[in-house]
Amino acid sequence: MNEIIEAVNRAAAEAVEKIAAAQDSAALEAVRIAYLGRNGLFPELSKKMGSVPPEERRETGSAFNTGRTKIQDALNEALAKNKSASAGNEALDLTLPGRRSGCGHRHPITQLTDECVEVFGRMGFIAVDGPEIEDIYHNFDALNTPDDHPSRDPKDTFYFPDGRILRSQTSPVQVRVMETHSLPVRIVAPGRVFRRDTPDATHGMNFHQIEGLYIDRNVSMADLKSVLQNFAWEMFGKDVKIRLRPHFFPFTEPSVEYDFSCVVCGGKGCNVCKQSGWIEIAGAGMVDPNVLKNVGIDPEIWSGYAFGLGLERLAMLRYRIPDLRFLYDNDVRFLGQF
Ligand code: PHE
Repeated sequence: MNEIIEAVNRAAAEAVEKIAAAQDSAALEAVRIAYLGRNGLFPELSKKMGSVPPEERRETGSAFNTGRTKIQDALNEALAKNKSASAGNEALDLTLPGRRSGCGHRHPITQLTDECVEVFGRMGFIAVDGPEIEDIYHNFDALNTPDDHPSRDPKDTFYFPDGRILRSQTSPVQVRVMETHSLPVRIVAPGRVFRRDTPDATHGMNFHQIEGLYIDRNVSMADLKSVLQNFAWEMFGKDVKIRLRPHFFPFTEPSVEYDFSCVVCGGKGCNVCKQSGWIEIAGAGMVDPNVLKNVGIDPEIWSGYAFGLGLERLAMLRYRIPDLRFLYDNDVRFLGQF
């Protein structure tokens, strides 16, 4: 083994050590230049090849090759390690914006409920709550409903074995409010109600109503009409018309049904309004004196009106939904549009 081979082997070992100690790619590049670069140690040593006796040339040449390969391999390995380490750092880049995950939102009926509560709130109505599981007294008896009224039938109303029911309307909240509040009162009570109906495009077994009640001195049908008219304008703008049709409810006298002109077709007739140009939105009327007497209010002094709005019907008009069952299928492609 000649001096040159020894020098090459030493240089290679040195370089590999320095590569192992290098902290970053700049330090690695410095090692490469120092040993393999154009003016580095290896080219320097190879200049001495001329002085090597011919029988040692082959051995010396292969020592150069082995040395270079060792250094290059060590460099490649260190560079690859560096890269994967810095890839790890990138994953921790705290300045990058985070990945957004999908976020839910309020159901369209909840949004619409809140909107109605706000509109009535501006007209002086306070929002109150009532139980979904009711007793017969509040849902029927106190509301002047005769014993043989068809709405009491188990074919129409859900009964529990203990005789309580799932409320079939939000009207029992009227009774609960009159029992507990001093007069005058002006409330709205939004909530879920339950009826044994065969579901179709405009009926469900449970749906939502907003009950309204105003009791004061000298309340008249004109007050009721103006509140309902205002509500319609607030929800749909001045183009919407309202129509009051005579009707009957046990707890109001006189009673009306309250229709909005169909804002989907402008009154011409479409599938939302079943070609009639109108949509039935609410029942309403002047609170029957018998109801006032049932809760100990003197009908000679006090009078009032009540109304019950169907929220799903309102949603159909507002959001142009042709079938209210869409609201409860829980299909995110539908719900995501609100
Ligand atoms: N409770 C009635 C219904 O469910 C609506 C209504 C409420 C009517 C208040 C008059 C007064 O159909």
